[in-house]
Amino acid sequence: MTAFSFQDGNLYAEHVALRDIAQRHDTPTYVYSRAALTQAFTQFSAGLQGHDHLVCFAVKANPSLAILNLFARLGAGFDIVSGGELARVIAAGGDPAKVVFSGVGKSHREIEAALEAGIFCFNVESINELERIQQVAARLGKQAPVSLRVNPNVDAKTHPYISTGLKNNKFGVAFEDALALYQRAAALPNIEVHGVDCHIGSQITELSPFLDALDRVLGLVDALATHGISIQHIDVGGGVGITYSDETPPDFAVYTQAILQKLAGRAVKVLFEPGRALVGNAGLLLTKVEYLKPGETKNFAIVDAAMNDLMRPALYDAYHRITAIAPSNEAPQVYEVVGPVCESGDFLGHDRTLTIAEGDYLAIHSAGAYGMSMASNYNTRPRAAEVLVDGEQVHVIRARETTADLFKLERVLPA
Ligand code: LLP
Repeated sequence: MTAFSFQDGNLYAEHVALRDIAQRHDTPTYVYSRAALTQAFTQFSAGLQGHDHLVCFAVKANPSLAILNLFARLGAGFDIVSGGELARVIAAGGDPAKVVFSGVGKSHREIEAALEAGIFCFNVESINELERIQQVAARLGKQAPVSLRVNPNVDAKTHPYISTGLKNNKFGVAFEDALALYQRAAALPNIEVHGVDCHIGSQITELSPFLDALDRVLGLVDALATHGISIQHIDVGGGVGITYSDETPPDFAVYTQAILQKLAGRAVKVLFEPGRALVGNAGLLLTKVEYLKPGETKNFAIVDAAMNDLMRPALYDAYHRITAIAPSNEAPQVYEVVGPVCESGDFLGHDRTLTIAEGDYLAIHSAGAYGMSMASNYNTRPRAAEVLVDGEQVHVIRARETTADLFKLERVLPA
């Protein structure tokens, strides 16, 4: 089943017309397709059958409990970067024993929570973090399973803000230092060396950076073996890109086959941390045209979603396809699609040809990853509702925030 498809000019999510969702649930609303989520996960995993593996969905891409729960039911593990994400995974029915914990700034409390929960592995990003995990584990009388996240110094050829595998990034430990750090880790009484981890960036549309990074990681694994340190798993990170407009990322089968080929003959478990690839094209943002405003040089379509709802265009100049969701008799015009936030950077799309009138609805496509998860309340705007379509059913998986929600934690000073 195609998640989102046009039938006679009307856009559907599975069997539900988006116009019905907009009318029933108001806008802005994130709309996800269960079939698309399921298909993405099962297709990703299909290529890995026969090899010991764990697919850890990167929670940051979309931390919705309903979505985490769907993936958990399909057998997913999870890649987390905070104690909050760990709590979400557990609340969603995820198995802590399938959780890897990445990120450069793990606090004492987060390390403690992860040890108490019994996670699969810490992806350690510095020597000081390693020492801290040792301390916390010793205090709790636990053994901490670790991988070191190594920085293979590979150019992922993606946007600089989401490239993480280069020397000048804050992530991981330098390749040259890895052996010494593993030796230190192996000597620590409450640390158990399990794996090697790397993640080189996001929205990567070529295969070669992944394979170059893996070659370097395998070189390290062999070097460690000669020093008596054996590696049980290799975590190749996330980063597989999706099609927003005309990108052609490697498809899952090609990607997983290429990785498995490099691992042939090795008795290691392989971990993946895909985020965007599993959810990006399984969701869209539904918004209403509030005003059409002709300008001197540009026409503006002012919609009720804004940079606070979908930050990617403002932050990375990211492209999201924008379409009307129903046929119209208007003349096509070129618009700047912008939100109501008081910043010129508040745009969702430049120079889009649309056939629309005020009151019509638009779909901002490919918004399932890093959409709602990066949303804020800037301009005191309640965050959007989220619905998940399953065949003919529409489930509200997150109610729209109310304005009162936005200041319920605030207090004015005493008189
Ligand atoms: N693993 C680690 C350690 C990561 O840092 C990330 C993403 C992932 C896995 C998942 O990467 P993915 O498969 O989704 O590419 N907000 C940006 C993307 C930031 C990605 C951060 N790290 C965006 O909207 O494009």
